[in-house]
Amino acid sequence: MSGQKPPNTANRRAFLRGAAASTLGAVAAGRAVADDPDPLITELQPWAQGLGDGVDATPYGLPIRYESDVIRRNVPWLTADTISSVNFTPIHALDGTITPQGCAFERHHSGAIELRKEDYRLMINGLVERPLVFSYADLERFPRETHVYFCECAANTGMEWAGAQLNGAQFTHGMIHNMEYTGVPLRTLLQEAGYDASAKWIFVEGADASSNGRSIPMEKALDDVFVAFKANGEALRKEHGYPARLVVPGWEGNLWVKWLRRVEVIDRPVESREETSKYTDTLADGTSRKWTWAMDAKSVITSPSPQSPITHGHGPLVISGLAWSGRGAIARVDVSKDGGITWETARLARPGEKMALTRFYLDTSWSGEEMLLQSRAMDDTGYVQPTKAQLRAMRGENSIYHNNGIQTWWVRATGEAENVEVS
Ligand code: MTE
Ligand code: CO
Repeated sequence: MSGQKPPNTANRRAFLRGAAASTLGAVAAGRAVADDPDPLITELQPWAQGLGDGVDATPYGLPIRYESDVIRRNVPWLTADTISSVNFTPIHALDGTITPQGCAFERHHSGAIELRKEDYRLMINGLVERPLVFSYADLERFPRETHVYFCECAANTGMEWAGAQLNGAQFTHGMIHNMEYTGVPLRTLLQEAGYDASAKWIFVEGADASSNGRSIPMEKALDDVFVAFKANGEALRKEHGYPARLVVPGWEGNLWVKWLRRVEVIDRPVESREETSKYTDTLADGTSRKWTWAMDAKSVITSPSPQSPITHGHGPLVISGLAWSGRGAIARVDVSKDGGITWETARLARPGEKMALTRFYLDTSWSGEEMLLQSRAMDDTGYVQPTKAQLRAMRGENSIYHNNGIQTWWVRATGEAENVEVS
């Protein structure tokens, strides 16, 4: 040693941080350590003075109690009871793309039933050579596939048709989840039963009282529909259709039959009361559109947003959100801070994947100015997410389903955000 004192740790850290900040050319998100000694750094804290929980304290782990507000929520006035109802994924508090099952929205028409694997049966009948019944164990013996897909209820954002209504991304856009499913292609099971090659449709139903019967074109059934029994690596939760549900990639959630018990091969769609009265969109001229199965490209900024305000003061700000398309992969997402006048292209966390959520980020800086935040998704078919005005011009104001208009959050100088519309 030459006798020169090495710089103390605090100063060196401050220096390194300063250097890093200047290379990035941005204001540092941290603060200089020496400025104001922080007892959380300088003093021994209680959690370092004793022992933590042993293994097995929670054989199946739950989120730490400090995250207890990251939960599904319902809107009590939307439905008469919680049996035929919906709750919403806390998308404002999640990051990445995978939705943990425990906070993935639920939509039931007659409640979530409890069905043991041993009691599970899936029948394939109708226009087939050999009507078949599969047990759960039978399903496990077919070659399996694993895919990540989003499931969006056709009613997602439905309350927003007439104007800005619900104050939070969870409520405006939370009827969506995105999981990694494992299961057997429906094609495999249909082939096993010897389906009639001229049949154009299948009818699928669940084991719950509502049965949620739906007709699906055979072309889609043979393409990418599959019977899933695992989500995010583990068994499906009861509320998502344990022990097996239908996965219908890119298409509206009501086709994703839970507790799947029967697939009938048919030659023309079954017009059940449920199907004809629901999931159609009333247009401005009084006519209705139906069979709008694929979910159009859509996006939403999850943070900042009404439930996720800016709390950290001025300087670096990460604007983040989700984009998806039921017709392909997300190719690009733009973000506007001025209500759609100017746009910046966001960074995709990973290249868009077909019919799966894509996370986007805009790494920016904020000095307290008001913002009208919007995001605009584009998919690989060239489709561009419309403004709400464009959507209303095409579809009128009487719809509930398939609202994929551009969302606006008004961020104020305080960092708080509100659901608004710009004309
Ligand atoms: N399947 C059955 N058997 N019963 C139902 O009530 N609801 C449907 C669909 N499958 C339903 C069903 C609707 S409208 C949607 S949006 C999705 O399930 C929701 O799936 P999730 O509860 O796993 O989010
Ligand atoms: Co639905």
